[in-house]
Amino acid sequence: MGSLDDLPRISARGVFGSFGRTSAERLAMQREVAAADAPLVRGRLLHLPLVLPATPEASHQVLVTQAKSFEKSPGLRVLLHDLAGDGLFTSEGELWRRQRRLMAPIFTPMAMSQFAGAMRTTAERAAVGMTPGQQIDLAHESTRIAMTVVGNALFGVDTFDEADAMGAALTAALGWVNGALISPMIVPHILVLDATRRLASRTRGPLRRALGRIQHTFESPILVPGSRGQALRAAMAVIEARIHETITERRRDGSVRHDLLSRLLHARDADEGGSMTDAQVRDEVVTLFVAGHETTATSLAWCFYLLARHPEIRARVVAEADALGDGPLTEFEPERLELTTRVFREALRLYPPVMMFPRRTTEAIELCGTELPPRTLVFVSAWAQHRRADVWPDPDRFDPDRFLPEREATRPKGSYLPFSAGPRFCIGMHFAMMEGPIVLATLLRRFHFEIDPAREIVEDDFATLRPRGGVPAVVRAR
Ligand code: HEM
Repeated sequence: MGSLDDLPRISARGVFGSFGRTSAERLAMQREVAAADAPLVRGRLLHLPLVLPATPEASHQVLVTQAKSFEKSPGLRVLLHDLAGDGLFTSEGELWRRQRRLMAPIFTPMAMSQFAGAMRTTAERAAVGMTPGQQIDLAHESTRIAMTVVGNALFGVDTFDEADAMGAALTAALGWVNGALISPMIVPHILVLDATRRLASRTRGPLRRALGRIQHTFESPILVPGSRGQALRAAMAVIEARIHETITERRRDGSVRHDLLSRLLHARDADEGGSMTDAQVRDEVVTLFVAGHETTATSLAWCFYLLARHPEIRARVVAEADALGDGPLTEFEPERLELTTRVFREALRLYPPVMMFPRRTTEAIELCGTELPPRTLVFVSAWAQHRRADVWPDPDRFDPDRFLPEREATRPKGSYLPFSAGPRFCIGMHFAMMEGPIVLATLLRRFHFEIDPAREIVEDDFATLRPRGGVPAVVRAR
């Protein structure tokens, strides 16, 4: 069995290690991983060794086959702690298992189809606000729509966007997370957290309690610059107050509504019979809001951009949207938006909104013939898998036909990962796969969005892989 030292290395980019400091450098790193012909390659995060699965098989092993030996990397958990607490995205172990069990029935395709009508209505309303000749940013419009859709699904309210106090507060808090994600201080922070955790487990009495308090403090991002900033504190106060008020009101009036909040409040564990505390519901609500809009909005923005550059495919998508007609959408029939769905999937391949999934080994394991010690960082890259030339011929080309069923059947497991895979795969996948095509079809039926063909838009890898500078367009009547 080989060791970490035997793995082929990818380039280091300055003191930060393989990641470098800019989006372009980070994407260059992903390209190196995509081009590697070994199952695993080795990089560096500051001074720490970092393992990057290069093949679909290796990625599948980390996320699915050997998932039990991995936890999510604690960095993300620390950064999201103030915002998302112990919600599904950030929790681990028994708490995560219980919450996933409680929430899985809420997110089945059948349960999600009730939101199809609201998705279409929200997109229709956004279209009403657009006038021919108007200059818009399609990335911004997509964010407004996706934020309203998820706000509506969560709380059953119609107006929910950045103009709303809660929407503005969440946007501010998310903006902070975006900035902090690329802070190098997160590594020393995790080292302190790990050290206090290990020491606490070996001590007793007052020392253990003191270490426990330090550990608790370090579960929030105190070393990351600006983390206790006034803007973040003010935003969090608005979020806390609004969610607390809504939960209390719901508990008091006892009515059962069809939104996700009611379902969370009424969810019962099939095995143990318990329900969620208010604090847990709060964490899940914020998690769903954050995980549920930025990702979909980013993919929608890329779809508009890609379609503008491929007018022949756009024409076919518009024909499909026209065939959908004007009637209300009571349920989602994916076959009616078959090509639009393939376009959305291809956009998720080229620009996976969550491009990397950071993991850490919880024990010593063997992965693809290499021995990994406990606490080894292993980052699975959806971006790298999606650009492998041996799996996706001419990988940078936009081609929705890659998702024709007969072509999909030939691809190996682990090669297409926009929603990750294994136990931690995206619980909102069916929601997103419905929302993307519905919003696209609704807007493209009404308008043609003219995007300067000479303008090449590049990726900005913030929390999600956004189009840098947005997607500026002029609204044209059809
Ligand atoms: C195109 C849209 C979306 C994309 C690309 C996406 C992607 C992902 C990915 C890659 C993960 C797993 C990350 C990891 O393994 O480290 C994830 C997890 C998650 N997503 Fe999504 N997501 C999308 C939409 C949504 C929506 C609409 C919701 C909710 C309404 C949602 C809620 C969640 C939650 C709660 C988790 C954590 C699941 C767990 O750990 O058990 N996502 N998402």
